[in-house]
Amino acid sequence: MMRMYPVLVVAVLLSSLMCSLKCTSCVVMQSRLVVGADEEHRLSNSDAVEILLQQRSFLITKELFLKLYPNYNTSFYSYDAFVTAAKSFPGFTTQGSRTHRWREVAAFSAHVQQETAGLYYVNEIDQSGDYCDATDTQYPCAPGQTYFGRGPLQLSWNYNYGAASAAIGADILSKPYLLSQDPVLAFKSSLWFWMTPSGCIPSIHDVIIGKWKPSKADREAGRKPGFGLTIDIINGGLECGKVTPQAQNRVKYYKQFCKELRVSTGPNLGCASMQPWG
Ligand SMILES: *[C@@H]1O[C@H](CO)[C@@H](O)[C@H](O)[C@H]1NC(C)=O
Repeated sequence: MMRMYPVLVVAVLLSSLMCSLKCTSCVVMQSRLVVGADEEHRLSNSDAVEILLQQRSFLITKELFLKLYPNYNTSFYSYDAFVTAAKSFPGFTTQGSRTHRWREVAAFSAHVQQETAGLYYVNEIDQSGDYCDATDTQYPCAPGQTYFGRGPLQLSWNYNYGAASAAIGADILSKPYLLSQDPVLAFKSSLWFWMTPSGCIPSIHDVIIGKWKPSKADREAGRKPGFGLTIDIINGGLECGKVTPQAQNRVKYYKQFCKELRVSTGPNLGCASMQPWG
């Protein structure tokens, strides 16, 4: 974790206070924030209307689910489990402009493709590591349990399982195996990761809908808004700050899904020049 200077803390608090004041008192301000200046000229009138009406419906129909994940493991994952889980995270694919919402479907599917071959795998193939950070005193590993990747985005590590527990309504820190037994919990754990910021690390959702703005430290570390930053959030320590085949795969999948969904990719697709958060 980075240390902050007191002056900076006050500035950050003030600016977030001002932001929340602005956002509650002025819907138009909020929608402009969401669109992002560089995008505005490309968005049609219907997009603008859509942004003002926040919380649209979940974009993925059953028909689309079958197209996005044709090889999904039918003995575990299901469309209904996905929909049920998404009800707990109502912002997913429902916020921002039409462009942003479809990009969110493309980005989610790209990471799911990389992590589980399109919902084919439930558990991580290599389960030799315990993925236990013993220095984490808030979420200590349960005796005999390991925290390898499970579910659509392969949630791993005790600190993620611990932090997700309350949000998904199941004690997966004590019983991580629940994620391999209950498809709704599996989807919920991945949507939790997707939708939830962690300290100075933004949520993938906020990056995709254009809500995240880089700080000075982010700019110095090369972190810019776009799909590349979503790779940095998911697995930057291993895949970013250098050229890696995993990150290249994710970009390739993202481009394919964007093409299929007829949405532009946006800028900054890779993360080779972005430093992961320390
Ligand atoms: C598919 O799901 C079943 C039921 O949970 C599981 O036993 C099987 O290992 C899964 N297949 C893969 C490839 O993960």
